[in-house]
Parts: sequence; C-alpha cells; structure tokens
Amino acid sequence: MRFQVKTGKPEKQSCKLAVVPVFESKTPAGALGTIGKAIDKHSDKAISAVLKAGDIAGKKGEFLLLTDTGGLPAGRILLVGAGKKTDFDRVSYRTTLRSLYSWLKNKPYSDALLYLAADGVDGAGAYRSARIAAETWHEMSYTFRLPGKRGKVDKPALRTIAISVDSKHAAAARSGCKDGHGIGTGMSFTRDLGNTPANICTPSYLVTKARALAKSEKKLTTQVLNEADMRKLKMGSLLSVTAGSKEPAKFIIMKYQGAAKTKRPVVIVGKGITFDTGGISLKPPAAMDEMKFDMSGAASAFGVMRAVVEMGLKINLVVLVPTCENMPSSTATKPGDVVTSMSGKTIEILNTDAEGRLILCDALSYAERFKPTALIDVATLTGACVIALGKYRMGLMANSPKLAKELLAAGDSADDPAWELPLDKPYKQQLHSNFADLANIGGRDAGTITAGCFLSQFTEHSDWAHLDIAGVAYRGGPKKGSTGRPVQLLVEFLLNHTK
Ligand code: BES
Ligand code: MN
Ligand code: ZN
Repeated sequence: MRFQVKTGKPEKQSCKLAVVPVFESKTPAGALGTIGKAIDKHSDKAISAVLKAGDIAGKKGEFLLLTDTGGLPAGRILLVGAGKKTDFDRVSYRTTLRSLYSWLKNKPYSDALLYLAADGVDGAGAYRSARIAAETWHEMSYTFRLPGKRGKVDKPALRTIAISVDSKHAAAARSGCKDGHGIGTGMSFTRDLGNTPANICTPSYLVTKARALAKSEKKLTTQVLNEADMRKLKMGSLLSVTAGSKEPAKFIIMKYQGAAKTKRPVVIVGKGITFDTGGISLKPPAAMDEMKFDMSGAASAFGVMRAVVEMGLKINLVVLVPTCENMPSSTATKPGDVVTSMSGKTIEILNTDAEGRLILCDALSYAERFKPTALIDVATLTGACVIALGKYRMGLMANSPKLAKELLAAGDSADDPAWELPLDKPYKQQLHSNFADLANIGGRDAGTITAGCFLSQFTEHSDWAHLDIAGVAYRGGPKKGSTGRPVQLLVEFLLNHTK
C-alpha cells in the first residue's frame, strides 16, 4: 500500500474515490465539516441532496456511494457515517477507519482520497491522524497464513490511500504516514509470530526469523547463543525451564545500530516461551492452546525491531529473546528444585509454571553488559494481570519513576495504554525461601507485583521497566489471535526517548 498526503483544494484533486465523513446532525448543514461543504459545492450539491432526502443520517457504520459527482474530479464520492461531530475523538476516528477499510475490501477502486480527519480529530493532530490511518490499514488488511502455505491471496484493488490535509500540516502528515506504515508492518510481523502454532513456531524458528530480518538490513546484526553457550554464561535459571523439552533453547541477540557506536542503546527483552504447558506444575487443559501465545513478548520485540528497520530510526536498539518450551518430562525441573541464576542468586522453583521470570532473569542479567539507557522487558507473565487490568491496559512496573512516566505517556498517546503497579519492599518478602536466595512464586496475593519484584532483583544496575502483557497480547474466543500489542507503545517510546 502506498500512503500519500494531498494538500490542494478538493475541487483540484482527481481520484477514484473521495471519502467524506457525514456527522449525525439535525440539519444537513451541520452534517458536513468545512471540507465536506466545499466538496458538496463542487459536486453540484450532490451531498446536500442525499442528506435532505434522508438517505444517510451520519450514524457510525453507514455508507452511501454517490456515482454522480458533478464538477468534482472524483470518480465516486463515498459518504461515511462518523457519529456525532463532538464525539469524533481518536477512538471514534479509528472505528470509522475500520469500517471504511472493511467496506473497501472487494471494491474495484485503485485509490481513495480520505477527508475523514480534514476537519480535525479530537486528540489527534495531523501527524497522529495520518499515522492512525496508515496503522489501521495494516490492522484491517492483516490475514494469517500458515508459513509456507501459499494458498490464494486476494490482491486488493486499492493501491493508494491519500490523506487530505492543510498544506501547513503536510510535513507532519507525511511523517505520520511513514511511522504508521512502519508500526503497522511491525505489528503484522508480531501477529504472524504470535499466531503461528507452537509445532512450527519453535525457538529455532524464531532464530530463522531473526536471521532473515538481519539479512534485510545492514544496520542490524543477529547473534544466537545455544545451550552450551548459555551453560558457559551460567544461565542456570533459563536452562532449568528448557530441561523438560527436546526442542533446543536459544538466546537471540539482535543489535540495531542507527546512531553513533558510542551511544548507549535501549534494550528490550521479550519472553519467548513458544509453548507453556506449565511443566511438572501442569496447567489444566481448558484453553491451553492459547499458551502458544506465551512468546508474545518476544514477538512484540521482533515487531519493534521490524518497525525500527522500516522507519530507519537513528537510535541504537538491542533486542534480547530468551526462548524455549516449558514441558513436563522425566528430565523436567521439579517443584522444590534449586537453581543458580547467571547473577549468582539461587532460586527455589516452587512452581514450574512460573517459568517466564526464570528465563527473563538471566536475560536481564545478560542485558546489563549493554549499559542500556532503558532496559524494558515484555512478557505474558501472569494470569493475575488479566484479572487485575483485563484486556485494555497492560501492567507496568519499574525501578525508575522517570522511565515509568515515559512509558505510561507513550502508551496513552499511542492508544496502547499501560497502568503502573507498585513494587514496594513489603511485597518482596512474599518471595522468601527457606532454601535459596528467593522463591520463584509469592503466593496468590498480588501475583503480578510479586512477579515484577522477582525481576527487579536482577536489574539493580539499570533503569528498568517490566510490561506484563498477558491480557493485551492476544484475544481468545471467536476472534482468537495476536493483537500486535505493545508494538505501538514501544515504538512511541523509542521515538520520544532521548538520553
Ligand atoms: N504464561 C503464563 C501467564 C499467563 C496466564 C499468560 C494466562 C496469559 C494468560 C505464566 O507462565 C504462568 O503460568 N504464570 C502463572 C504464575 C503462577 C504459577 C505464580 C500464573 O499466572 O498462573
Ligand atoms: Mn507458566
Ligand atoms: Zn508462561
């Protein structure tokens, strides 16, 4: 898809399809914005005619295609119901775009010129509304295909989406299109990885994806550690999780150098459990298939890297992905086992289903060698987080108030929001063990926080934050599938983060 910005007057813009919002209003005049009125005038009142006749009321989900466009150099005018003008905020704008893009499926138009945001969107300037238009296109045109299966692909007729803006906002809108395209591309990559079943999406499969990504971009290098390398590094905690699996564990290191070598990077660590059975502390069977999504943290880290490559950001970014399966077997780790992490701290594994933190702690220890300006881990870490925050906001915990603030703000602006939970000392006592420096679980109370506390013991030397994405990374039920979150939050953070 080509995203384009157009700044001329509507009567000068030739296009196959002009997309004009109609708002709910008592009067036909109130149903159109300034631009809508101009288009109406130059289409010889084609729009007022249908408004007066009551053919369209402006309700969300309504569409009316006008074939008679008068003097307007547009093949067709598509009127789109956009709800109340006073409610036209980012959410409403996104909903309108979604229904527009699904309407456009299987239609013959090769280009469309969007006037949807031409009269402003509450809470979005020219940059943001262009970015949302591009991002949403990627969201709506996404389809999952099993890797290697060719099948029939319906090529959309639509090749160009143009966005009409005032000339003084052209540069901002152009950069919005570019970023939206980058983020959308990254999110689709994340969704592909998340949706790919665990018999295909193994740790070794993630390695091939990392290598392919590095091949496409010379600023990006990939390095992979195998189990022998991890043993040398004394990653006893990570290795204890893979002990029950025949599938070899991997530790993927992707380094993107878009700025001077001397600039300290941001490091993102993604939980890469390609399937979580729970191990010997076996999970119940209901919905266990969803545990193929337990590598969503890794998938979003890959997606961020994909977006950063696409956008050519002038930053240094390191992505670390510890990845393995969590399986029960005669060689699996048993409840009560004590292991030594890379940091030297010993861990009593009271529940083998609390495995995410066990692979992350060694990855976080490894991350410190990069002296990151920000160290962020992303993980489908606790079911408790789904209970606490549901499926809208992800959990955020941090040892740096400044980093927490940056991430919360990034999430809010990108409509990929997070909510901070505390890491007070008293919670840390729940991780007490009689047999090791700490236990890997802290009981039923505050399960998301005690998981964060566990990780915090391995990040004392960095500004660190933890994103628990268990509720937001994928949907269950009839719309089951990866959401691509939190690529938007993380890219927004990278765009704003300077140190
Ligand atoms: N991958 C799960 C967390 C999870 C649960 C993600 C539901 C998405 C939906 C994680 O490895 C896990 O099993 N956590 C345990 C921790 C407990 C044993 C302390 C949990 O949440 O039950
Ligand atoms: Mn688990
Ligand atoms: Zn897990």
